[in-house]
Amino acid sequence: MRLTSDQLSQFEKDGYLFVPGLFRADEIAALKQHMAVVLDQDGPEILRERGSDAVRSAIAPHLRDELYRRLSLHPRLVEPARQILGGEIYLHQFKINAKEAQDGEIWHWHQDYRTWFEDDGMPGPEVINAAIFLDEVTEFNGPMMFIPGSHVDGRIDSDQGFERVPGYGRLSADAVGSPYTKETINRMIWEKGIVAPKGLAGATIFFHGCTLHGSGPNMSPWGRAMVFSSLNKVENYIRQPTRPDYLALQDFTPLVATADDCLTKP
Ligand code: SIN
Ligand code: MN
Repeated sequence: MRLTSDQLSQFEKDGYLFVPGLFRADEIAALKQHMAVVLDQDGPEILRERGSDAVRSAIAPHLRDELYRRLSLHPRLVEPARQILGGEIYLHQFKINAKEAQDGEIWHWHQDYRTWFEDDGMPGPEVINAAIFLDEVTEFNGPMMFIPGSHVDGRIDSDQGFERVPGYGRLSADAVGSPYTKETINRMIWEKGIVAPKGLAGATIFFHGCTLHGSGPNMSPWGRAMVFSSLNKVENYIRQPTRPDYLALQDFTPLVATADDCLTKP
């Protein structure tokens, strides 16, 4: 799947691109089946919501599950990422965020690249995410929100009020507080607005490492699971990882895409 020049210009301008129907219903059904097994596992890669046993994030499922390994190499993710970043890419992080019905908590406004710069020593912001909807996303189940065009000035460093939660790094600190002051965020939103792409399972949002994003709690009876694949340019490999390598992957070999039908073939 190749992005058109209009789609590439849109990504460059807005810092995100919404692609409905990137994955088919039968492919999503297979991923949901495997997700149930992955979320049922235990161990350091399984992060839970504060105050409940609900899974917040399952980190690096591609290292434990064959179908997620195939998804991590899927050409419908790898090809667009190569186009956007203009070169070879490797996988920096891969996870499922479950945002379970009633239990899924807030992700405060943040830029991913800021964490990857500070915690992993990623030199530049030539990195993107693909967020694949495993459920239909509506206004009720905690859709992701983006500030369009917030990537253009790069990393934002204002830091007041941010406290790291020991042992969890920023993955769960995001549930505790934003690394930015309300003033910083409000100023950007008044200037640029907010979008919250919604749609059927299978839709995918590509977004830049510096695009400010977050999501509210899931107060609905419907889950909002998404897979996040963070794809980094090979030359931009991380220089000083301080976290376990399931959070900051360290195989910098350029990705070789699988076959397009790999999610439904034995
Ligand atoms: C993230 O920013 O890593 C997660 C956001 C979400 O799951 O809504
Ligand atoms: Mn994020």
